[in-house]
Amino acid sequence: MKVTVLGAAGGIGQPLSLILKNSLPAGSQLSLYDVNPATPGVAVDLSHIPTDVAVEGFAGKDPSPALKDADVVVISAGVARKPGMTRDDLFNINAGIVRDLVTAVAATAPAAVIAIITNPVNSMIPLAAEVLKKAGKYNPKKLFGISSLDVLRTETFLAQKLGYKAGSLSVNVIGGHSGNTILPLLSQVPAASDLSADEIEKLTVRIQNAGTEVVEAKAGAGSATLSMATAAARLTMSIVRAKLGAPGIVECSYVEGGTGFARFLAQPVRLGKDGIDEFLSWGPMSAYEKKCFDGMLDTLKDNIKKGEEFVAG
Ligand code: LMR
Repeated sequence: MKVTVLGAAGGIGQPLSLILKNSLPAGSQLSLYDVNPATPGVAVDLSHIPTDVAVEGFAGKDPSPALKDADVVVISAGVARKPGMTRDDLFNINAGIVRDLVTAVAATAPAAVIAIITNPVNSMIPLAAEVLKKAGKYNPKKLFGISSLDVLRTETFLAQKLGYKAGSLSVNVIGGHSGNTILPLLSQVPAASDLSADEIEKLTVRIQNAGTEVVEAKAGAGSATLSMATAAARLTMSIVRAKLGAPGIVECSYVEGGTGFARFLAQPVRLGKDGIDEFLSWGPMSAYEKKCFDGMLDTLKDNIKKGEEFVAG
């Protein structure tokens, strides 16, 4: 199993690579790429950790050496937002970065599963899909937008609110990965039925603004890196385990298809050897959640169109 991280020397890429070095199955390869000349050094640093995962690092303009024979590619490259910015404000700077990296993946590792962290995720996944399509290499079952941090935040905040043990709850979060497109289905958690409508709404809004909470707390020094790396590692490890044959692995991720609501939607999917095995129902929604869902679809569709049009020119 070979996993390649593109953007590996960055604020998310380094902790993500660290978690993968400590989690990938014995015999795996971890390949790091970043424009940052420190990248081979990051690989040497990781290589001193005693796990049976071989690490190599590449810097410079060409990611191809890192992509050779990759089974899974995780893209964390790009610029983070500063206070006052939305994720969409990053589009102009990050779109070219993702386009060029995905073009390289299409040329060197066309069969790889690709998972993208770079914001705005709502637009970057459609953009990546169009790049792959243009190259004749698009398989929608192998392209994932990482929305797992919304799931982690929901599970964390809800457990805190209910006085439950951290990590003991599991919640579907659907929609997209930005503002009101993030929709946690809190009504599906039996223990949350004791919460008032006002408490549910406040918790939903906190989850939707949680990325901004970190951006403001970091006061100009970037956005979530450690929690994002943890979230990205969760999806990556699930993809890897499913590829190796583990059954019944389900994750919420921003992917194409499965619904008639928008071309891309974060939703629960069952993973298999080749990416998505099955789109799963996300279950019932409360009247409040249905209103939020209907109310965010136009924004999500606009985000999708922006990514598609960038490639169409
Ligand atoms: C997050 O959710 O923390 C990330 O998408 C980064 C951001 O800009 O909010």
